[in-house]
Amino acid sequence: MDYFIYKDGTLHAEDVPLTEIAKEVGTPFYVYSAATFKRHFELFDEALAGMDHLVCFAMKSNSNQAILKLMADLGAGMDVVSIGEYLRAKAAGVSGDKIVFSGVGKTREEMQIALEGGIRQFNVESEPELEVLNEVALSLGVKAPITIRVNPDVDAKTHAKIATGKSENKFGIPIAKSRDVYAKAGEMAGIDVIGVDVHIGSQLTELEPFELAFQKVAELTEQLREGGHNIRRLDLGGGLGIPYEKSNTVPPLPSDYGAMIKRTLGHLGCEIEVEPGRFISGNAGLLVSSVIYIKEGEGRDFTIVDAAMNDLLRPAMYEAHHDIVPVVEPNAGIEKTAYDIVGPVCETGDTFAKGREMAPLKADDLVAFRSAGAYAASMASEYNTRPLVPEVLVSGDQFAVVRQRPSYEEIIGRDIIPDWMS
Ligand code: LLP
Repeated sequence: MDYFIYKDGTLHAEDVPLTEIAKEVGTPFYVYSAATFKRHFELFDEALAGMDHLVCFAMKSNSNQAILKLMADLGAGMDVVSIGEYLRAKAAGVSGDKIVFSGVGKTREEMQIALEGGIRQFNVESEPELEVLNEVALSLGVKAPITIRVNPDVDAKTHAKIATGKSENKFGIPIAKSRDVYAKAGEMAGIDVIGVDVHIGSQLTELEPFELAFQKVAELTEQLREGGHNIRRLDLGGGLGIPYEKSNTVPPLPSDYGAMIKRTLGHLGCEIEVEPGRFISGNAGLLVSSVIYIKEGEGRDFTIVDAAMNDLLRPAMYEAHHDIVPVVEPNAGIEKTAYDIVGPVCETGDTFAKGREMAPLKADDLVAFRSAGAYAASMASEYNTRPLVPEVLVSGDQFAVVRQRPSYEEIIGRDIIPDWMS
């Protein structure tokens, strides 16, 4: 459920008409609903009630500091995958003891900054990383709290580019081998082993793969405890999918996910940590764009909008579906037309939708791409020297620009022509 609804014939974000934001900010722009973020966080939090737990927002899905602050004020921790994200979370007011550091390629420098600034735990993904972390911690005279990310070899049944839990993926340490690595970690003076971590992929639409992975984690936890490790925290990753198409499959509810966690892991008495990104942010944002031209092609009409693949990469990268709706509500029963909805970037891949049935569109109409709160602004680039799209946060009847559109001077001014060329 989200708070983007038509009122008096105009699509609103909570109580603000999108036409009003478009007038003030120009298009394209991202708009987020604070109430939707809050609701989705609370659904997750409530699903784990009765268990000691922390919901760490996967900020790669949406890293705007206003969103991070909103999450942190609700009690969320953060899941970060780079020191850039770590510093950004800190800048938004998140304390180090609520930040989890994930990722396959943490550098010495990143480890040092996190250890000095405070960190809840590192999710270690390889033996070489473990060795380097031990060295860095010893050089600082501290112990690094860790979990080891295990790869359970489970098919997440999601898009190949976002599945992470099969043995052929680059993530984690094979679960069968992990006990040896735990034994090694247990001997290291700079390492404090506190738990087990698993994350099998993103946009999962079934609970079964999670359950298979969590059963393996339960088994491993018992074996590790028998081996003398004080396993007290389980990080279960993110991955719960969202509905992108209203008519399509309904992903599992967080309450069912929470009940399954209790069933498979509750008896272990561990603190549960989860790292949802998309579930919280995905349907809490829209990308609003204007129609530039309607171009009649051979056998198909193209709607050329002012947003492009650099602003919202998901359709080009994963063939992802985003619902696209007109901001001004069409009359009920109006005959629809099929459009290919495309951006201005010079690539055929800059196509958002093919043959999409929409009420007739014309130049200057506003359209909104739904489900654009996750992996949308955070994956944007300036390809074709197109400025990053501004972000707007709505709460009730107020809105604020939470990231400005950069000027062309700012973008162009970043390049440096060396003296020796003049
Ligand atoms: N934890 C770890 C270690 C992750 O790698 C991810 C996502 C998450 C948590 C959050 O997963 P979520 O709850 O959002 O599914 N750009 C792609 C998605 C990439 C996901 C990467 N890892 C997309 O647009 O679909």
